Amino acid sequence: MLNAAPGEVDLGAARVATWTYGGELPGREIRVRRGDLLRVRLDNRLPRPTTVHWHGLALRNDMDGVPGLTQPEVAPGAGFDYAFTVPDAGTYWFHPHVGVQLDRGLYAPLIVEDPDEPGDYDQELVVVFDDWLDGTGRDPDQTLGDLLASGMGGMDMGGGMAMPRSDLLGGDAGDVTYPYFLANGRTADAARTLDVRPGQRVRLRMINASGDTAFRVGVPGTPMTLTHTDGFPVVPTAADAVLLGMGECVDAVVEVPDAVVPLLGLAEGKDGITQVLLRPGPGAAPDVVAAAAALRGSPVTPVNDLPAAESLVLPGREPDVVHPMTLGGPEPGYTWTINGRTYDPTAGVPVREGQRVRLRFENTTTMFHPMHLHGHTFQVRGAAGAGPRKDTATVLPGQALEVDFDADNAGQWLTHCHNVYHGEAGMMTVVSYVE
Ligand code: C2O
Ligand code: CU
Repeated sequence: MLNAAPGEVDLGAARVATWTYGGELPGREIRVRRGDLLRVRLDNRLPRPTTVHWHGLALRNDMDGVPGLTQPEVAPGAGFDYAFTVPDAGTYWFHPHVGVQLDRGLYAPLIVEDPDEPGDYDQELVVVFDDWLDGTGRDPDQTLGDLLASGMGGMDMGGGMAMPRSDLLGGDAGDVTYPYFLANGRTADAARTLDVRPGQRVRLRMINASGDTAFRVGVPGTPMTLTHTDGFPVVPTAADAVLLGMGECVDAVVEVPDAVVPLLGLAEGKDGITQVLLRPGPGAAPDVVAAAAALRGSPVTPVNDLPAAESLVLPGREPDVVHPMTLGGPEPGYTWTINGRTYDPTAGVPVREGQRVRLRFENTTTMFHPMHLHGHTFQVRGAAGAGPRKDTATVLPGQALEVDFDADNAGQWLTHCHNVYHGEAGMMTVVSYVE
């Protein structure tokens, strides 16, 4: 039973009223094995309609949780039975697909174990990063309303702060100013702790559930070996830090040193840091600001730097169809578009079962967009050959990114920016299987 309801949570720095799954932040993890039939009953105790979207899974279309496209909204007081076979192992998560509910506390990890994977590690740590404003005097619905009304980003509440910018993100780093940044529901000063032993290998399963914030993550002084992105194995790659756009997931393995170390999340282009601590014994955690300096170099970016494991590279094939996906906005007002239009569920891009499909995302805006496709895992076309298999790929301003997938899962599948404000303001369309 998944109970979506209003409640209070303790972030560490503040106690806030919000909406959660089961009263916890993040919601309790769901863990299954590849091939399992997952059954979850959603019980909607929220004052608004909701749904659950199972982010990253190539599941059956009628369980995808997109209201008006794959199912009706679940009314307050009503329920919905989700039941589907889980096709692929990996680190995934789930969240509502109604309005900007994702930017409240409604999110939780979905971990799919692979019975055949050797698992060369001793412990696992699932970490969900988030940007937080709900219950601090504003909520996400008001924030979206303000953006739509003012026609501009950078809700600086009159403080005259500059728009957040990041060279790494190629321009604007966000439209919304958040008072808090969280790792597993906590601010840095009240970090959650994992008890470990020196020399242990810990698998980090990292998820960015933010509404409007990319995170730069890493363990200062302790190199990570990146092993998966968006659930799928990559060529193992050493990194001091990795950049996670909204909706992206990365797995890594680290070897625990002798002293307490943080897994830091730096809000990219914004002034915020959060952490989870790995604690091999007594001792104080290092100062977060000082520790963060070690992660200020060039992080790995999943789209460019993490080629898919060889067995996962899609067999070479010319695309049967190439669909341009031109990303535009935010003029006029706060309007974000794909191919010049806002979301229209009846005007998607047509694909046919059996086709090799190429989507060509072209970002004509001044902000990055983590573009997400439901129901499929595409192959990024890298500069030097096959890139990673992913479901969410960050497209930088002024750049184009091509992704290929085999149309093997019939249905109506949303593709959109995982900046929840951009998606709601129009940057959303449908990959629509037609006869
Ligand atoms: Cu995680 Cu349509 O999104
Ligand atoms: Cu966007």
